Amino acid sequence: MTTVPLLPQAILLLFCLLLLNQFVISLNSIGIGTYSASVPPSELDALLELKARLANSQAVLRAWNVNNSHNVCKSWAGVTCTYHVSGQSHIATINLAESRLTGSLPPQLGNLTFMSTLNLSANLLSGAIPSELGNLAQLERLYLYGNHLIGPIPRSLGNCTSLIRLELDTNELSSLIPAELGHLCNLQHLGLSENKLKGSIPATLGNCTRLVYLELSEKQFISGLIPAQVMKIRYLEALNLDQNHILGFEAPLRCSNASSLILLGIAGNQVGGAIPPELAQLKGLQFLDLAHNQLSGNIPWDALSKL
Ligand SMILES: *[C@@H]1O[C@H](CO)[C@@H](O)[C@H](O)[C@H]1NC(C)=O
Ligand SMILES: *[C@@H]1O[C@H](CO)[C@@H](O)[C@H](O)[C@H]1NC(C)=O
Ligand SMILES: *[C@@H]1O[C@H](CO)[C@@H](O)[C@H](O)[C@H]1NC(C)=O
Ligand SMILES: *[C@@H]1O[C@H](CO)[C@@H](O)[C@H](O)[C@H]1NC(C)=O
Ligand SMILES: *[C@@H]1O[C@H](CO)[C@@H](O)[C@H](O)[C@H]1NC(C)=O
Ligand SMILES: *[C@@H]1O[C@H](CO)[C@@H](O)[C@H](O)[C@H]1NC(C)=O
Repeated sequence: MTTVPLLPQAILLLFCLLLLNQFVISLNSIGIGTYSASVPPSELDALLELKARLANSQAVLRAWNVNNSHNVCKSWAGVTCTYHVSGQSHIATINLAESRLTGSLPPQLGNLTFMSTLNLSANLLSGAIPSELGNLAQLERLYLYGNHLIGPIPRSLGNCTSLIRLELDTNELSSLIPAELGHLCNLQHLGLSENKLKGSIPATLGNCTRLVYLELSEKQFISGLIPAQVMKIRYLEALNLDQNHILGFEAPLRCSNASSLILLGIAGNQVGGAIPPELAQLKGLQFLDLAHNQLSGNIPWDALSKL
């Protein structure tokens, strides 16, 4: 009899179809539908250059091939990407830890400017750390520990201000500790133990106010006094300077009972004189190692009740 009531429903249906169509189009444009992830040529080149420099890598990096470049984000071992609305992808992480890799690191790694994690720990890498890594403004985690890297810690790493963890332990690095590392205001973990580092601990590290672990131990050549600024880092829980040539604490040593310090390792250094009574202020201290120094006087045991 009457078709009038159907009309609004038809319009509604048409409207819904239009909306759905819009939705499908927008899904495609952010790459969910098509998944055509491509990375810029500079990033592709950096990965291929890395493979070229790594000997012993043919098995692990079989998929890393220029003929397989459309699959970088899908099938290249150890690689993950970020995806962007534009359809453009970028290398986000490289994780090739514990892969028996030999060879060296190419400067082109500095072109991976979207990378947040580089994990090449526990390999057999040699050569120097490329200063171009200082271009990686989004790098949050740099793990190069457990290799045979030589040469300096690049000053340019002070430009990687997103760094949360910088772990270069157990290599053969032989420079001063760059004062520029004090620019890393997000840094929580600085691992430089078991190298051949020399010079004194830069006072600028006191600017790394979020630092929790500072590891500088094991048969290195670090000398001078522990800067007062470092002893004042609010959240510092572990300060390990065992087996160096440290002479003592920079005066005035103002330890606060609000300090978070749990571990203080200064064994095997050249700290002389009396044990600073201010250490008794470190109410949270549980591990204190002052062995093999030239200290005299009494340890304030009563105060350090948690040891
Ligand atoms: C890529 O493919 C071409 C043609 O199939 C081949 O000649 C070339 O050796 C391949 N390159 C690599 C690196 O495998
Ligand atoms: C880095 O590699 C080590 C193995 O050496 C592994 O334990 C760690 O979870 C890895 N971390 C990241 C963030 O990939
Ligand atoms: C990549 O890095 C190398 C070495 O640092 C540089 O010479 C080159 O111009 C860079 N390429 C691009 C496309 O950024
Ligand atoms: C990076 O660090 C070096 C050395 O500290 C400095 O000369 C350079 O200007 C820095 N570059 C940027 C882009 O901040
Ligand atoms: C970092 O610390 C040093 C020494 O404590 C200080 O002279 C310098 O101004 C600080 N730099 C920044 C950027 O905060
Ligand atoms: C630090 O020590 C002072 C004096 O013993 C005390 O009054 C204060 O409550 C302590 N603060 C903390 C955070 O324990």
